[in-house]
Amino acid sequence: MSPIKIFTALDYDNAQSALDFAAKVTPDQTGLKIGKELFTAAGPALVETLAARGFKIFLDLKFHDIPVTVAKALTAAASLGVYMFNVHCLGGPVMLQTAAEAVARLSQRPILIGVTVLTSMDAAQLQAVGVSAKLEDEVLRLARLAKESGLDGVVCSAREAQMLTDAIPAPFIKVTPGIRPQGAALNDQKRVMTPQEALKAGADYLVIGRPITQAPDPQAALQAINAQIGI
Ligand code: C5P
Repeated sequence: MSPIKIFTALDYDNAQSALDFAAKVTPDQTGLKIGKELFTAAGPALVETLAARGFKIFLDLKFHDIPVTVAKALTAAASLGVYMFNVHCLGGPVMLQTAAEAVARLSQRPILIGVTVLTSMDAAQLQAVGVSAKLEDEVLRLARLAKESGLDGVVCSAREAQMLTDAIPAPFIKVTPGIRPQGAALNDQKRVMTPQEALKAGADYLVIGRPITQAPDPQAALQAINAQIGI
C-alpha cells in the first residue's frame, strides 16, 4: 500500500458526523482535514481521538497573527498529534520564519504549509486590500516567501500547481483542493481538476470533500479514486 495522497475534508458542524465518517474508512485510504468549522464546534478532543485511531490529520486553521502567537498556536496544535497544519503567508517573513523555527524544535515535527492567495479572491478583491500585483504573481511571490522562510510547501489551487512545480525547486509540497473525479458533481467548485491531472501537475496531496463524504458508500468512493491514482 502506497502512502496516502487524499485528505478527506470533514466539513461537518459536529463531532458525531466526523466520527461516523471516520468509522466508514481506514487510515491507509485517506487522511482527514479538520477546518475551522469542525474544530470550533468539536474542539481539540476530536483531533486527538481521530489521530489516536491512526488517521493523518491536516489541521486547516490557517493561522495568521503576530509571530509569537502563531508559534505558540502551532506548538499547541502539534501536541494533538496532527500530521500537517498551515499558516497564512500574508503574515509576512518574520511570522513565517518564527513559525518554521518553532515547528523545527518539536520532536514530532508536523508538515508546515503556507496559504498563498485564497481562491475566493480575484483581482478586484486583491485591489481592495491594496495588492495591485497580478493574482498569479502574488501566488508565486508568497510561495517563494514560504520556501525561503523554511515552510514545507503551500496549499494551492490545482491550476497553480504546475506553475509552482516549475518555479520552486523540490522539496516543496503542494496540497490542492478543487479536485473532482471524472463525472463527479462540481457542487460550488468552478475550476476543477481530476485527481490524476492534479498529481501530474505536481500536487503531493489532494483535498477532496463532498465527492467522498456525500457518496452513498464513502469507502467505495475512496477506493475508486485511490485505484485511479494507483494507490
Ligand atoms: O467538497 P469539496 O471537495 O469542494 O471540499 C474542498 C475542501 O477544500 C473544503 O474544505 C474547502 O473549504 C477547501 N478548500 C477549497 N478551495 C480552496 C481552499 C480550500 O475548496 N481554495
